Amino acid sequence: MSSAAKPLIAPSILAADFARLGEEARAVEAAGADWLHVDVMDGHFVPNITIGPDVVKALRPLVSIPFDVHLMISPADPYLEAFRAAGADYISVHPEAGPHLNRTLKQIRNVGAKAGVVFNPSTPPETIEWMMDEVDLILVMSINPGFGGQVFMDSQLAKIERLRAMIDATGRDIPLEVDGGVTPLTAPRCIAAGATALVAGTAVFKGGPSAYAANISALRGD
Ligand code: DX5
Ligand code: ZN
Repeated sequence: MSSAAKPLIAPSILAADFARLGEEARAVEAAGADWLHVDVMDGHFVPNITIGPDVVKALRPLVSIPFDVHLMISPADPYLEAFRAAGADYISVHPEAGPHLNRTLKQIRNVGAKAGVVFNPSTPPETIEWMMDEVDLILVMSINPGFGGQVFMDSQLAKIERLRAMIDATGRDIPLEVDGGVTPLTAPRCIAAGATALVAGTAVFKGGPSAYAANISALRGD
């Protein structure tokens, strides 16, 4: 079903020029990005530190595409409201970031955002078997989270297939997103496995603004 459809492309601003972040966000939107992927890291859940709600808030008025906020922080619960208030449309959490995933997902919806679950390479699909009704987005990491520019892990393709089947069984249109090492070479394999959305940092931002439209088209398979 999804193999012929074009994927949504969500550029990860982790690979943007941080000194010109606003212009970069505008440039990828103009180049055809569907969502803006924002990687939030705390130096504790993952070994890197990036940005917080104030940066999301500053970027929000500059573009109109949805903000796909990927929280790599622990705990996440105390910050959900702040990210929503800053303009996050999707807020995704890792199950390992807190003791009560179900409660966290409900809290994300309660603050008015769509609730996403992120799978580390070692996280099994069954983690969400009993909470498919609470999930609005599924994000499969095809690298270990923390840094851009890593190599895509083929082992995650079977997990994407399994999650595709779990989503299809719900009858709901839950986006299935892949994050990490997504390039024009690995993208078609993700789509064939059932992905409907692709995060890409390096593959979108390489070459600077004049290359963004071609980079996004190449990922989408235009
Ligand atoms: C890493 C982030 C990714 C990262 C992807 O923890 O979640 O979104 O930016 O970067 P690339 O596309 O370069 O692998
Ligand atoms: Zn991410």
